[in-house]
Amino acid sequence: MKHVVNLSEIATVALLAGTWLVVLAAAAAQGEAAEKRADTWHADPDLVRSLTKRRAGTLYDEAKVPDYTLPDPLAMADGTRVTDPKQWPARRAEILDLFRTHVYGRAPGRPEKMTFEVFDLADGALGGKAVRRQVAVRFTGTDDGPRMDLLVYLPAGAKGPVPAFLLLNFAGNHTVHADPGIRLSTSWMRNRSGVVDHRATEKTRGTAAKRFPIPLILARGYALATAYYGDIDPDHHDGFKNGVHGALDKGERDPDAWASIAAWAWGLARALDYLETDKSVDAKRVAVLGHSRLGKTALWAGARDERFAIVISNDSGCGGAALSRRAFGETVERINKSFPHWFCGNFKKYNSKEGDLPVDQHMLIALAAPRPVYVASADRDLWADPRGEFLSCKAADPVYRLLGTEGLPTDTMPPLDAPVMGRIGYHVRTGGHDLSEYDWRQYLDFADKHFGRTK
Ligand code: GCU
Repeated sequence: MKHVVNLSEIATVALLAGTWLVVLAAAAAQGEAAEKRADTWHADPDLVRSLTKRRAGTLYDEAKVPDYTLPDPLAMADGTRVTDPKQWPARRAEILDLFRTHVYGRAPGRPEKMTFEVFDLADGALGGKAVRRQVAVRFTGTDDGPRMDLLVYLPAGAKGPVPAFLLLNFAGNHTVHADPGIRLSTSWMRNRSGVVDHRATEKTRGTAAKRFPIPLILARGYALATAYYGDIDPDHHDGFKNGVHGALDKGERDPDAWASIAAWAWGLARALDYLETDKSVDAKRVAVLGHSRLGKTALWAGARDERFAIVISNDSGCGGAALSRRAFGETVERINKSFPHWFCGNFKKYNSKEGDLPVDQHMLIALAAPRPVYVASADRDLWADPRGEFLSCKAADPVYRLLGTEGLPTDTMPPLDAPVMGRIGYHVRTGGHDLSEYDWRQYLDFADKHFGRTK
């Protein structure tokens, strides 16, 4: 144990030495330490200045954030307030319904005819470190309907079922590792380097590996399961004709019909349906995770499906962990205009009218309660409003406390690179919009803590 020298000890030494100077110096050092502890994160003023110049009309100045009042997550629609954990499920159902109606839309249930086909099973993958499985999930049970390929890596030699991280990827399973055994995606994707006519080529194999530190995840005893989000619903606005909407929707679309984020979140639940059938995975210990638009998706997936044991949002921002009412960085209006297919029709009513929303994003985080939830921000990613993400966690805290768990173990936003981990976890790390190894290390520690595992 470290020996902490206290002031009286120092005073004795100082008196013996016949001088008070040492005492004064020690007191000053303690004062500095206290100040450091009270330190909090602030956006870099140079970055604020340059972004404000570059993106006219976007709010980056903390001093200009409008006054707002958040809806109380514990206030029932009938005017009463939840004061007993037993009343929470009823309030939870109300909040879930509000998000379905006004934000993400209503998704169907599990399709009866869905099938799982394990088309690859490799024992000695990744130089003998992993077992690889690939599974075709046919949502409608037929070849002409949408198909999601789930890629699963398990640590080799595991004794019994292992906990897992489940996340969607942006550009195909074959991008998460250079492993030549991963099936090359044949789905539509945005053209970019190595993607020709909206189809992936071999050139993109392994190109997202930095965001998927698979050797580290496996070494820590976890499985990794991932699928390409475009297998569920291609990320472009086509009037909801393609992907699972086209295959499962019947008739006219209502203003609360599911849009793309709801479809991707629904796809994560279908991936979990498969994992529940896989004996090598402990389906009761699956953490759902996502970056950016897929972070919004992970939060919604974890909110609607309580089978997810841990929910993790990486730089999810507007429509994810960030409070809409702050209108800082990306706003409701901006996101609805740039990505009209992400949220349901009703969400458009709140363009520049965030105050009219019956929910804010702290209530999305509260929907994970009492399960562990982690929100991560990045210092340079002001578009996603790091402070708004922290404040969301803080405003979800009363729900966690009501349910008898530790919520967020701090009142003030922690300084850079200083994660806090209660039942709610939070960090703001150095760097930009990305899913980094640093982020992963915190998620692994957080999962270890809540799953009762040691490194
Ligand atoms: C855009 C969008 C964000 C989103 C991000 C991403 O920046 O405005 O809301 O999170 O794309 O998914 O990368």
